[in-house]
Amino acid sequence: MARKKAKKKATRKHSRKRKERIKAKKVTASNIQKEKVKRELKISAIDEGTVIDHIPTDATFKVVEILNLENEKGVVSIATNLQSKRIGKKGIVKVGGKNLTQDEVNKIAIVAPDATVNIIKNYEVKEKIKVKTPDVIENVVKCSNPVCVTNHEQVPTKFYVSKKEPLKIKCHYCERNMGKEDIEII
Ligand code: CTP
Ligand code: ZN
Repeated sequence: MARKKAKKKATRKHSRKRKERIKAKKVTASNIQKEKVKRELKISAIDEGTVIDHIPTDATFKVVEILNLENEKGVVSIATNLQSKRIGKKGIVKVGGKNLTQDEVNKIAIVAPDATVNIIKNYEVKEKIKVKTPDVIENVVKCSNPVCVTNHEQVPTKFYVSKKEPLKIKCHYCERNMGKEDIEII
């Protein structure tokens, strides 16, 4: 019995030693590199599709809404509160197998004026589009004026952009001025 215990103790000691050896092996230059890559890869790369980057963090889910990603069939990855040197905290949305329409890009510009739309083909960034706030916004934003005709009849909304940063828009129908905080996407 005592011998058995001693053997067990020895085995445990041996296995602890092995673990220590494995640990020691981990601290090699290549493993440090691997660990660095692992830490940097917050969301995996995509092979085909679109990556919307540099979204102000609080507009990330608005982009999800604009692109109607709730009903998307492909792989969708969403990240918010990522560190960005350029805009403080940012969001990223990656949509596998999707190409955005110009209309969708214009809508994104309204909530994320600094966003970059990357078109990915075969794991490479094939095109990088910097979004641009349009001069006229049609059928994207709801008018905040409850008595505006667009809230009572089937009339598509239309706004003129009076200032791009921070965004100020004016309703074509009721002339209500709206700021970034009043904007509700249709
Ligand atoms: N990306 C991806 N899948 C790929 C290639 C790129 O998801 N196959 C993502 C990257 O993670 C990054 C964005 O697409 O969020 C743009 O990629 P890239 O131009 O390589 O990155 P940056 O140089 O950092 O872009 P920028 O200059 O616009 O900040
Ligand atoms: Zn109006």
